[in-house]
Amino acid sequence: MNEKSELLKDVLSRARYEVSKVIIGQTEVVEQALIAIFTNSHALVEGVPGVAKTLLVRTLAHILGCEFNRIQFTSDLMPADITGTHVFNLKENTFNLVKGPVFTTFLLADEINRAPAKTQSALLQAMQERKVTIDRTTHFLSPNFTVFATQNPIEFEGTYQLPEAQKDRFMFKVSMDVPDREDELSLAQRMLGDESPENILASGAVQPVISAEDLIELREGLRGIKMSDELLGYVVDIVRKSRQHKAVLVGAGPRATQSLVLASRARATLSDRDFVTPDDIKYMAGPVISHRLILRPEFEIEGMTVAEAVSDILQNVVVPR
Ligand SMILES: Nc1ncnc2c1ncn2[C@@H]1O[C@H](COP(=O)(O)OP(=O)(O)OP(=O)(O)O)[C@@H](O)[C@H]1O
Ligand SMILES: [Mg+2]
Repeated sequence: MNEKSELLKDVLSRARYEVSKVIIGQTEVVEQALIAIFTNSHALVEGVPGVAKTLLVRTLAHILGCEFNRIQFTSDLMPADITGTHVFNLKENTFNLVKGPVFTTFLLADEINRAPAKTQSALLQAMQERKVTIDRTTHFLSPNFTVFATQNPIEFEGTYQLPEAQKDRFMFKVSMDVPDREDELSLAQRMLGDESPENILASGAVQPVISAEDLIELREGLRGIKMSDELLGYVVDIVRKSRQHKAVLVGAGPRATQSLVLASRARATLSDRDFVTPDDIKYMAGPVISHRLILRPEFEIEGMTVAEAVSDILQNVVVPR
């Protein structure tokens, strides 16, 4: 393993340690969020209210020395509300740019499906190109610009479902479950003293492990992680199988292939290895593929879930030895 990969592994393990001072449990979610950040991607985050989605992204921003912003999407949110706009300055007789909340590094886009299509697509351009156009001038965003978007899964009323093309821009969907009993009990215990997760984060007990500039260089460490041709073939076969499965109406596109390669390599790094294994790929396949699949209505009516379809797809692809 080369020096950069070693450094990256070290940073990732320190980052996880610092996060665990604030976030109780949720280890898989923390890993996946780190994978999204270190592969320079974006993630959908799903979970019922109060499972610490906001707190997690805020904590990660702090630990990685990055700026954090949050946008609450609503049905009347306009594209300019997220990108920014020029405001006339009477004193100087000029137009001044007032930058919108996308000018940040980690952006939490809350309830993205509440905004109308044109506002969603303004965010889409920002995600895809890491730049925005305001009154015909292009402005570049941070090279580390990462969107974590939540969708409101419970109330569909007054929401605009994310179009498939927009979902495809997210590397994967991270599902945050409610904590198990033990974790919820530690949360309860912390509330007795002065140790609420928010207080811990504010107290300075959580140390940044790098600064935003280091992120770009650290990412190069991923290139030192080997992935054999057989495993690349395995990734391609899984994604292609998702298009042929009997229960699937719309399968995953080529972006899923790209994402699965990058995510598996990052997961190998988090597992302290300098090579990808079939298990890395299997582990990441669910989060990468699920949100891109649309099941045939007749299978949905029978009660088939996307998770079941993915596991069936995996069982029908030959694992390289
Ligand atoms: N696993 C956890 N570790 C630490 N704190 C937690 C955990 N789960 C919940 N909490 C606590 O729950 C509270 C809610 O967290 P947060 O606001 O981040 O939730 P959320 O998922 O963003 O909710 P919403 O969907 O309503 O925006 C926080 O005060 C946090 O202290
Ligand atoms: Mg929140």
